[in-house]
Amino acid sequence: MKIEPELVGRTYDDFLFRPGKGVVPTRREVALTSPLTRGIQLELPVVSANMDSVTGSAMAKAMALEAGIGFIHRAMSIEAQVREIERVKRSHGFVVEEPFRVARSAGLQQARELMRQRGTSLLVEETEGSGVLAGLLSARDVPWFAGEDNGPVEGFMTPFDRLHTGRPGIGLEEAERLLYENRVEKLPLVDEDRRIRGLITKRDVILHRHRPSVSKDDKGRLRVGAAVGATGDFLERAEALVGAGADVVVVDIAHGHSDVMAQALRSIRRRLPDVQLVAGNVGTAEGARFLAELGVDAVKVGIGPGRGCRTRLETAAGVPQLQAIREAWLELGDEVPIIADGGVKDDKDIFLAIICGASTVMMGSALSGTEESPGRVIEDPATGQKLKIYRGMTSPQAVLRTQFDDDADVENALETPAEGQEIQVPFKGSAVDILARIRGHLRSAVSYAGAPSLAEARAEVVRDPMKHLIPLSGAAKRESWER
Ligand code: XMP
Repeated sequence: MKIEPELVGRTYDDFLFRPGKGVVPTRREVALTSPLTRGIQLELPVVSANMDSVTGSAMAKAMALEAGIGFIHRAMSIEAQVREIERVKRSHGFVVEEPFRVARSAGLQQARELMRQRGTSLLVEETEGSGVLAGLLSARDVPWFAGEDNGPVEGFMTPFDRLHTGRPGIGLEEAERLLYENRVEKLPLVDEDRRIRGLITKRDVILHRHRPSVSKDDKGRLRVGAAVGATGDFLERAEALVGAGADVVVVDIAHGHSDVMAQALRSIRRRLPDVQLVAGNVGTAEGARFLAELGVDAVKVGIGPGRGCRTRLETAAGVPQLQAIREAWLELGDEVPIIADGGVKDDKDIFLAIICGASTVMMGSALSGTEESPGRVIEDPATGQKLKIYRGMTSPQAVLRTQFDDDADVENALETPAEGQEIQVPFKGSAVDILARIRGHLRSAVSYAGAPSLAEARAEVVRDPMKHLIPLSGAAKRESWER
């Protein structure tokens, strides 16, 4: 099928969506289910980019808990990437892995201050840093009236021998049973040496039960994806990642429509015939068909729209993102899901990507600068503004970092001139809040589209998007985007 002429050379900011008659009684009921790959569905069609300033285990956990998924980047050794996968897989989503602690000899005032700051109870350890559980100090143990608040924590805590504890790796059902049978709110997890290995709270367990949309595998563990390249250690890496529990592997290279990609996909398929395999990036109908014929489970689309990306500036190669998505969908239909990667600046872009043919959207900069993205918050001494770093994976800074990694292919990395850049982004708080906002805006967009769910809005529009999209003049763009 030929692409609609109005979509050639066009991207997100070129269109508005023509509102239809609303049919949903409440927006909360609008389902946003969409396939990530042929074998995996997500309840929120949003994916965090495999970039070293976006997705490590903390982001991947948040993404899965919020019904999306994160792809752990590959700018690290195989062992380190495996550890990141294991962190996500072991986290259950209802276990606090690093509960706050205080030493039994610490003063009650100090503990009270910590509890106030963190808003939680504290595990008490035998000596500072020992990690050996001595007791639990919760709000009800601490006197609230004056004159009674002196002395060390040990005089107030519930001591170890009166606590109910669980073993690390405990399942949801067993944790619930222990909490209920013993009528307790907290279940510290300890190993055979009484070392603290986590904490389960009744509140988190209830929350987990009420969130059926969490992205979970068939064992109830959080889902996570991971990236590999197409040369060097990619095969060994893919095997190790799948061994550690990765649900989906993305073979991610700048130019996915290439012989090197074909060879890589063939060898991964031979070694791992059942893995959910994503490949990219491509930006054309031919590129999408090429990957589909190599048997991938999703195609990642995007040549040069990314915020940290300089490919179009340096090489003139690229396809405006909405055109690229459309070309890929007209070629593949719903045979292989499309992940629209890069260029999302506003929440509305996610809706446009999906109704034009994508199934999910991958985001880098929109999720960068958050608590969950790797890297530290820096405070600008001049303005006091809090910042984090976001960078393209082929930025000089990201490439230079690989020099500190024994396993990285430095020679190869330095051979290609940089096609990415590093930027400072304002610190934005938690990614969870960003995802909640996206969820709300997507539901509103579906409601304006006059459909009961995202899948139904997409099914209607994707057949003929120009019936629903309004191309914008310069004046209409100013009216829409300038505030
Ligand atoms: P956004 O716009 O969400 O884009 O920040 C994220 C995507 O950008 C791509 N990416 C790069 N592209 N040079 C590029 O040409 C780079 O250095 C680079 N780093 C990331 C990638 O597809 C990512 O998901």
